[in-house]
Amino acid sequence: METVLISGGTGLIGSHLSKKLKENGFNVAFLSRKRNTDSIIPVYLWNPDKNILDPEAISAADCIIHLAGAGIGDKRWTGRRRELIIDSRIKTGELILRKVLELGKNLKTFISASGIGYYGTISSDKVFNEIDPPSNDFLGEVCRKWEEMADRFKESGIRTVKFRTGVVLAEKGGALERMTTVVNMGIGSPFGNGRQYIPWIHIDDLCNLYLRAVKDPSMIGAWNAVAPNYTTNSEFMRILAEVLEKPFFFPAVPSFVLKTLFGEMSGIILKGSRVSAGKIISSGYKFEYPGLENALKNLFPKR
Ligand SMILES: NC(=O)c1ccc[n+]([C@@H]2O[C@H](COP(=O)([O-])OP(=O)(O)OC[C@H]3O[C@@H](n4cnc5c(N)ncnc54)[C@H](OP(=O)(O)O)[C@@H]3O)[C@@H](O)[C@H]2O)c1
Repeated sequence: METVLISGGTGLIGSHLSKKLKENGFNVAFLSRKRNTDSIIPVYLWNPDKNILDPEAISAADCIIHLAGAGIGDKRWTGRRRELIIDSRIKTGELILRKVLELGKNLKTFISASGIGYYGTISSDKVFNEIDPPSNDFLGEVCRKWEEMADRFKESGIRTVKFRTGVVLAEKGGALERMTTVVNMGIGSPFGNGRQYIPWIHIDDLCNLYLRAVKDPSMIGAWNAVAPNYTTNSEFMRILAEVLEKPFFFPAVPSFVLKTLFGEMSGIILKGSRVSAGKIISSGYKFEYPGLENALKNLFPKR
């Protein structure tokens, strides 16, 4: 049985993905900064700030999925926060690679999260695909460095996959939980002019993509992990309000309010272009939730 080690596996994506991998016959272990005695998944410890990583974690792994990273939308982007957002993804990945090389580990696969922020926090008519270059803004820089780190695994002869992930829709956690809180309070409305796109993906589809990346040796390089349905912020909030049977209001939350509250980070809610799912569809993947309404109805079934 092959073992998949997930850094940051205790988070939103890792907790769903670990179940999916186990159901499909893989051993799973987490790489975490915290000892968790309640976890049914074995936890190996690391302290990236001190360059400490339990070598047993690497020895046991056939595949490593790198999900660790400080929350991008959790706090205002001060200088220190920006550093943490970068270091918690890139220095951590470099630490894993150093250990793999030191131990002479014959790792089969390295899979890294990346984000659609690669293409920039902008609203435009363009549909971005995997051959487009990274943008020059902060998230573009984070994703470029994140992927360059992943490419160093490839240069060491390890099959490497990178998922440029959209907003992950899960019942609990992440951006959707914040949106549902607002809608459940009865004050759901678009953000800014509401015409910006929100590239999204249902958590089950994302886990299917990671599972496929673990199993399919022909999968290499960058893949957009987004549903094939282009949804503006206004449509998203309206459909969410409908599914939750709550009111939907105009006017929208004005941009200046969001800019005052979130600073530069407001760009991730006020801006957004379309991102193509064409490459993954052409490779034969069939989305379980290609449309937003069904994705949300699955997550919030009528009681
Ligand atoms: N969720 C989304 O919508 C989305 C979209 C695009 C990309 N992504 C990316 O996918 C990855 C996983 O996302 P997620 O939603 O599962 O994130 P999450 O719920 O925030 O979990 C990330 C995990 O990373 C670890 N972590 C946090 N801060 C860290 C630090 N300073 N140093 C090292 N590890 C740290 C934590 O694990 P321990 O506390 O156990 O160490 C945490 O459970 C992230 O890199 C995220 O940016 C997510």
